[in-house]
Amino acid sequence: MNTNLSPRPTKILDEEVKWDKTKTIISKTDLHGTILYMNDAFEEASEYNKVELIGEPHNIIRHPDMPKVVFKVLWEALKKEENFHAIVKNLSRTGRYYWVITDFEIERNEKGEATGYTGRRKAIPESIVKQIEPLYKTLLDIEQVKGEKASELYFDAFLKEEVNKSYDEFVVDLFNSEVNTNTQNSEEEKESGGKLKKSLNWFFFGDFV
Ligand SMILES: Cc1cc2nc3c(=O)[nH]c(=O)nc-3n(C[C@H](O)[C@H](O)[C@H](O)COP(=O)(O)O)c2cc1C
Repeated sequence: MNTNLSPRPTKILDEEVKWDKTKTIISKTDLHGTILYMNDAFEEASEYNKVELIGEPHNIIRHPDMPKVVFKVLWEALKKEENFHAIVKNLSRTGRYYWVITDFEIERNEKGEATGYTGRRKAIPESIVKQIEPLYKTLLDIEQVKGEKASELYFDAFLKEEVNKSYDEFVVDLFNSEVNTNTQNSEEEKESGGKLKKSLNWFFFGDFV
């Protein structure tokens, strides 16, 4: 692989990418997170074009401000073939950032076996960034000073003590409470693995702008 085709930023800038926040950013990967498809909104926000990113690992847009534990819980859910929601700060080609909420879907073949994943992302309001950024900063600081395990233990304890829910539920509830103006849809819950699971389908698949 010619690495010049997928250049990584040499400098991290504390500057947000300008992109059309009404759009949904979509990518599809194989089971290892290799990008197989991305849409035009992905190009606009990431500032990479399709030729640069197709065939590359998704962590090419990983922002150094993101704590590892978030991706750990994300991959644990995907390996269990569970849909998942995460709030992520992404890194663009020019070193800028863009915050999104991601909804993951498991792709399956005709035998029902998982073959890959689809990620759909929407911009999040500043009010959500303000709530999640301090938590991610604490997790990253703990990770850097005390190691990944300490950061994971803090994350588990934080979720138990301060929010009393899983990360996925925390993200869905945070989002519904900040953004959803349609109470009927916010009450939407679906059956998942025998357990009621809250969903953001109204947001990703509805006509919300
Ligand atoms: C469908 C899909 C979409 C993903 N989207 C992102 C993303 O937008 N940003 C990101 O940093 N990681 C994303 N990831 C996770 C990456 O594969 C990777 O785990 C993450 O960037 C952390 O890098 P690391 O695993 O090398 O530590 C995605 C994974 C999948 C399967």
